[in-house]
Parts: sequence; structure tokens; C-alpha cells
Amino acid sequence: MASTGADGAGPRHVAIIMDGNGRWAQKRGRPRLFGHHAGARRVREIVEACPGLGVKYLTIFAFSTENWKRTQTEVAGLMSLFRRYIMKEMQDFVRENVRVRFIGDRPRLDAKLRALMDEAEAMTAHCTGTNLTIALNYGGRDEVARATKRLARDVAQGRLDPEAVDEETLPRYLDTRVLPDPDLVIRTSGEARISNFLLWQSAYAEYEFIDTLWPDFSPEIFAGLLAQYGARDRRFGAVSA
Ligand code: FPP
Repeated sequence: MASTGADGAGPRHVAIIMDGNGRWAQKRGRPRLFGHHAGARRVREIVEACPGLGVKYLTIFAFSTENWKRTQTEVAGLMSLFRRYIMKEMQDFVRENVRVRFIGDRPRLDAKLRALMDEAEAMTAHCTGTNLTIALNYGGRDEVARATKRLARDVAQGRLDPEAVDEETLPRYLDTRVLPDPDLVIRTSGEARISNFLLWQSAYAEYEFIDTLWPDFSPEIFAGLLAQYGARDRRFGAVSA
């Protein structure tokens, strides 16, 4: 269900495709991982800005099911960054009342990272502030396929009547089942693609594609995009009042 922020004008759920870390690093003559580290620091600032901006749900695309095609060095570096990030940030997230969740296909991730993800979710399960969802080994088509498999199992085992399946059924099997749909999807770095992110959930989302590279994204830029969103007329297929 789409929604609006606390004042009724801003988006309640913002999803971000954090693109451009590699180019940001290359522009400085540094390895791509340098850009990913700078990008991780930006994540913290943007999470901290959410309560003041009325954003209750923030979902970020950290690693896609397609990102395994990158070099072994980059993939290993990213996995190590995720492990260190979770270890380092978790106490702060608890203190700041941030509830952390992960979406994506977990079995392919290494055991140590999966254990840290479970721990982060458990440690912040009581938090009632910003809902931060990190998409890790996530792909929208993969998510729909995994959801369909679970749904089919329920039908086969007599727990679900196929005639009762409607638009409300599949979302209950998606990784995002406890989250509202995103109201606004932002992609940085000038690419106008959604790259398999939240395919089902973004059916009625507004999109913002901006040129800024993710490590240059700031709370000020974020606030500007939220203000623009407030000026839009979302009709969900109906006509304006
Ligand atoms: C896309 O930039 C970015 C990624 C594939 C990784 C996203 C990861 C982070 C922002 C850092 C850490 C996040 C967390 C949650 C700790 P790109 O490498 O495709 O950039 P390019 O298009 O310029 O090459």
C-alpha cells in the first residue's frame, strides 16, 4: 500500500539504488573499493537524516544478484565491507532506534555474513524508529520466483486455495512482506534504469534519477528530492481531485 510521510506530503518509504561508487573512485584515480567505502559512510548520514525528514522506511540496494559478475577482488571487498559495516554500525543503530532488516537470497552469502545479518535483525527487533532495509544478494525477479515457489508449496500442501490467489496474495510471500510499498525510488549516477530492484513493490512509485554519484549524495540533496516529491500529484490510476 502506498503511503505518505508524517505531514501527509513527503514519502513514507524511500528506496535508493546507490550507484556511482566505482566512477567516483576512478575520478580520483583510486580503486573501486575506495568508492564503496565512501558510499558506506554516506549510508550512515542518510539513515540519520530520515527521522527529521519524515521518512519512516528506507530501503537501500547494496548488492544485486547480478553483482557476482564483478571481479573476485571487488566482490570479496564488498562482502568484507558488509561484514565490517554491520559489526561497526549495529550499536549505533540500536542507540538511534533504527530497525534493521535484510532482503534478498541469503543462502549464497557466506556463513559469517549471514550470522551477522541475523544478529543485526535480532538486536534491533525492538527498535521503533527508522526501518532500514538492506537489499543484499537481492534481485526483484529472483524474489518473485522464490515467493512463487513458497506460494506453490502452500497450494500443493492444501494451505492455500488457488482460486483465492489475488493481488494481495503474492506480497505476503515476498521478502518485503512486512514493509509498505516504496513511494519514491531514487537512483544516483545518471543511469535511468531500475535494475531489477523492488519490481512488484514499485508499481506505483515515483522515480527520481539524478546525476550525483552516490558518495556525493548528501542529506541536503535528499531533502530536495523529498520536497519535489511533495509537489507531485500521485493519482494511482485515478484522476485528480
Ligand atoms: C553501485 O556502484 C554500488 C554497489 C554495487 C554497491 C553499493 C554499496 C555501497 C553503497 C556501500 C556499502 C553499503 C552498505 C549497506 C554498507 P557501482 O560500483 O556500480 O558504480 P559505477 O556504476 O560507477 O561503477
